[in-house]
Amino acid sequence: MSISAADLKQAVANALAAISAASDLDLIKSVKIEHLGDKSPLSKASQNLGKLEPAERAEFGKIVGTAKSEVASAFDLRVAELESERDARVLIEERVDVTLPSSKIHKGGLHPLTILTNEISDLFLGLGYRVAEGPELESEWLNFDALNIPADHPARTMQDTFFVEPLDARLVLRTHTSPVQIRTMLENEPPIYIICPGRTYRADELDATHTPVFSQVEGLVIDRGITMADLKGTLDYFAKAMFGPDVKTRLRPSFFPFTEPSAEVDFFFNGRWVEWGGCGMVNPKVLEVCGIDTKEFSGFAFGMGLERTLMVRHGITDMHDIVEGDIRFTQSFGLGNR
Ligand code: DAH
Repeated sequence: MSISAADLKQAVANALAAISAASDLDLIKSVKIEHLGDKSPLSKASQNLGKLEPAERAEFGKIVGTAKSEVASAFDLRVAELESERDARVLIEERVDVTLPSSKIHKGGLHPLTILTNEISDLFLGLGYRVAEGPELESEWLNFDALNIPADHPARTMQDTFFVEPLDARLVLRTHTSPVQIRTMLENEPPIYIICPGRTYRADELDATHTPVFSQVEGLVIDRGITMADLKGTLDYFAKAMFGPDVKTRLRPSFFPFTEPSAEVDFFFNGRWVEWGGCGMVNPKVLEVCGIDTKEFSGFAFGMGLERTLMVRHGITDMHDIVEGDIRFTQSFGLGNR
């Protein structure tokens, strides 16, 4: 069956109408199959050319060719139009507002007490000390007796010390880090150079300046020829690292059962003397309990509160800020690089 010129005209008109009606790139694909595909009237017209007489074939061939290229270029044009419409739409639909605030990712940070503990540990590690540890649930003997704190000492009463049941187990929540001195001396031969930072417990109410759970750092040095001058020099070095190079320290005579002589150490900061901790030469009675030859060895010890150190250094006036764990407080100390 051959196709007439009029049919061909109609086919072109139909194709052009379908092309311009195709409203998206999917629709225009089916328009192509229908109007330019193998089974379309235009293709059929080409296929029929072979059956025509040569003279007719040349003439009709031209008409068919023109018709095909007219439809093909209309098709290409519409595709280009639809593509640019799509591109413009995608640009709007997938637009990203780079000025919108980003959602914040909260990173964890170290508690200021941990930062301070790390800082002190680094300082003393640099002097050749070891960082020692001991349990917070401690035997009464190590917490008191071995440190020459007798059974009738006021610090042992129920008011100050958290005794742990059953009472005949003789366990307490350690009231200071000093029992780590005993543990260290029992387990090691001198020379001994340690600090022990850690948590300690006393039956106090939480208020602006007290907390029942607090932290101390203990220092202990046992070696040949250790004197009070070594103690003073070490405390000066420690204080300068904590409070700045201009800080002064002073020792005031005091009493602790485990040191003889004993002193309290103060530092001068922001125009006033601040009590920092206790210290002294390790009492020979304590050395003897630990089997250390007092003719050969002597030593010094010190112990101070970390909360107080932190409060003075950073002008913190309320202990609640340190213990409550509000991250707005903690964040002001950064992420723990100090
Ligand atoms: N353990 C004492 C306390 O908690 C502090 C202390 C004083 C520690 C003198 C020492 C020291 O090592 O020599 O109050």
